[in-house]
Amino acid sequence: MNDAKNGPMRVGVIGWPVNYSRSPLIHNHWLAQYGIGAIYDICPIDPAADFPSALQSMAESGYVGANVTIPHKQNAFHAMDSLSPMAEKLGAVNTISFRDGRLLGDNTDVGGFIASLDAQGRRWRDGPALVLGAGGAARAIIAALDAEGVPEVRLVNRTRDRAEALAALAPAALRVGDWQARDALAADCGLLVNTTSLGMTGSAPLEMPLDALAPTAVVTDIVYTPVETDLLTRARAQGFAAIDGLGMLLHQAALSFDIWFGVKPEVGPALRAALIADLQEG
Ligand code: ATR
Repeated sequence: MNDAKNGPMRVGVIGWPVNYSRSPLIHNHWLAQYGIGAIYDICPIDPAADFPSALQSMAESGYVGANVTIPHKQNAFHAMDSLSPMAEKLGAVNTISFRDGRLLGDNTDVGGFIASLDAQGRRWRDGPALVLGAGGAARAIIAALDAEGVPEVRLVNRTRDRAEALAALAPAALRVGDWQARDALAADCGLLVNTTSLGMTGSAPLEMPLDALAPTAVVTDIVYTPVETDLLTRARAQGFAAIDGLGMLLHQAALSFDIWFGVKPEVGPALRAALIADLQEG
């Protein structure tokens, strides 16, 4: 039994299914590193369950914070007492703080994506940027590029309507194109972001030549199973900077940790190595 008053502080990740999540490994690594007496675990919430009641039970069980993943980011958005401007803009919450009986919602996917790009040291804000895919991850990435003032964001998706639906996230910069036009739209881009599931273990690779990108381009993949996708291997071979999907995963986690505990944790090689080893175990 973990009593809210006497038990340890609790944090966790809400999702369904959620047992695949690597967030416990990441956060428990930092909790140990910084000597914080809290436990991070998984919090499965059935989509058929009453979501606000489930959050209420968590608050009563001593939770001080939670991450939110598929399929609950929008449910969380609707259940909050207050929202950060970015969560409000995205209509999605990935970080909840349980504070004084209130639920505060934030979205660190946006800042996590920006931090993962900044960590590699090359310029990427000058644009144009090409984003592939229009699912949940693309929403956060388009919002991030808009927040950072990238002057031109080209977006293509197999189902074009889903890309059109993201226009309001970057009203001045976004240009939607056809999926088949992605090769041409890569011309002179300083940033290429794959948010589709192409390249993931069990999916087809992303077919797309990279030659037309700007010579200084940064190529990033949101997929992290495998960590080194065919896209990233080809990008490195052609001299581009390549950032794998662990970058955004680790940096969004770091921002959540800071929100809950007031400590900006290190995204270092030991944690990355532990994560890769865990992913290799399956
Ligand atoms: P999320 O879970 O983030 O919402 P998703 O719905 O699983 O994402 O879809 C991931 C992205 O991969 C989508 O942009 C999807 O394109 P559609 O919107 O047309 O479904 C894209 N995707 C998946 N398989 C693809 C394929 N074979 N070719 C091109 N794009 C593909």
